[in-house]
Amino acid sequence: MTAEQYKKLVDELIELLDEGVYIVDKDGVGIHYNRVMARTEKVDVEDVLGKKFHEAFPDFKTGESTIYKALIKKQRTQADQQTYKNFYGKEVTTENATIPVIVDGKAVAAIEISRDITELRSMSDTLLKLREEASQTRSSDNPEHRMYSFDDIYGENEAFEAAVNRARKASQNDASVFIYGETGTGKELFAQSIHSNGKRAGKPFIAQNCAAIPESLLEGLLFGTTKGSFTGAVDRAGLFEQANGGTLLLDEVSAMPYDLQSKLLRVLQESYIRRIGGAKDIPVNVRIIATVNEPPEELIAKGFLRKDLYYRLNVINISIPPLRDRPDDIAMLSEKFMEKFNERFSKEIWMISDGALRKLESYDYPGNVRELENIIEQAISMADNEHVLTEKHLNIPDNRVSREPELRYGEGMALDEYLDTLEKQIIADEMLKYNGNITKAAEGLKIRRQTLQHKLKKYGIK
Ligand SMILES: Nc1ncnc2c1ncn2[C@@H]1O[C@H](COP(=O)(O)OP(=O)(O)OP(=O)(O)O)[C@@H](O)[C@H]1O
Ligand SMILES: [Mg+2]
Repeated sequence: MTAEQYKKLVDELIELLDEGVYIVDKDGVGIHYNRVMARTEKVDVEDVLGKKFHEAFPDFKTGESTIYKALIKKQRTQADQQTYKNFYGKEVTTENATIPVIVDGKAVAAIEISRDITELRSMSDTLLKLREEASQTRSSDNPEHRMYSFDDIYGENEAFEAAVNRARKASQNDASVFIYGETGTGKELFAQSIHSNGKRAGKPFIAQNCAAIPESLLEGLLFGTTKGSFTGAVDRAGLFEQANGGTLLLDEVSAMPYDLQSKLLRVLQESYIRRIGGAKDIPVNVRIIATVNEPPEELIAKGFLRKDLYYRLNVINISIPPLRDRPDDIAMLSEKFMEKFNERFSKEIWMISDGALRKLESYDYPGNVRELENIIEQAISMADNEHVLTEKHLNIPDNRVSREPELRYGEGMALDEYLDTLEKQIIADEMLKYNGNITKAAEGLKIRRQTLQHKLKKYGIK
């Protein structure tokens, strides 16, 4: 292929992408620039192609640009947010990745991929405003919104009681708490009880699921924003400030981007935050309760959870056993839920038959206590003028054969889909084996490090 043909190929290729693409040669002269990028930056392709980077974007301080870092220092930049003025003086915020293209040890070009997050960022502001309003109704001294307390936690199983006792102790001090439990095991119940039984009761309790918010919004949500830190931003306190004096529950903390995890660690060590774009250190006094629903050791090995953050949060460590490991609690939980729903639905089911109990006890509850509660709720709501809960009231799915059914080909699966799943599994295992060390895992798999990085990203394994 001639150079001309090759250039055409790249031009066609980058027009197919949803992201903006900008490629400069070794002198910083624009050689490819796609339409998405032009739209984001509101400049014309012609104003960038054939021009040096600093001519095309005069407002940019050369030392700060990731393109410059890539060309001169051969440095990669990932998920970097930049707010800048384009050719016509318009302000744009983008999230960028910039990669040097290195041949024989020299940077011969730099590629910048960019996503316009101007709108996303202004959403962050709306979210914070909503949270602020919600937290006013949610604070634990508001009788309208009763918080859970230890009296609401049922269970007598030994391992479960041990977990409750640790939580009770935790409520008497101020250390960070790390709770591991599968979905529906009662992590929120524990966290609220710790808050409402301690000296922070009466102060705000704010819960945020880190997996529920786009990565690029989470930082602003946690730490707040300052006017002008990005287009449309106003001065707004983040959740840390909103929870000041109280407790911040960070659910699924392992869903937080790695960089943000290190910022969180710093906040925990230094007890002050800085709003995005702000210059002021704001002291905060917030107790953190973090939760995960997969074993933390695995999350660390797979690179989802920073080890240093984990150690910092793990001052008090609570592990709530899944319901299938404590079948001895099913009878008493069922009775408690029967009472609750009798009252709610004005029913009078006071007993549970042996058959029904056996059925409840032999199920494995992937959704844990929440699922049991739903099963009882459904049973009571559907019951007639009866007094005994029997098997016929119970709508329980068939026990799954195994939690992770062995992957077999031929069940209506496309071949490439099957191979992808297989590949993902192999890579995840290898990452686990090498404790998240990409270089070693790549060696183990006999593939290039870059290839592995690409696949990790593709499959969402970090
Ligand atoms: N030991 C328990 N006693 C009484 N109710 C419980 C218990 N454990 C869980 N529940 C009930 O189960 C439901 C789910 O609990 P919770 O929301 O605390 O779980 P979770 O671990 O935070 O789940 P997820 O991981 O999905 O967020 C709630 O209605 C809660 O009251
Ligand atoms: Mg929860």
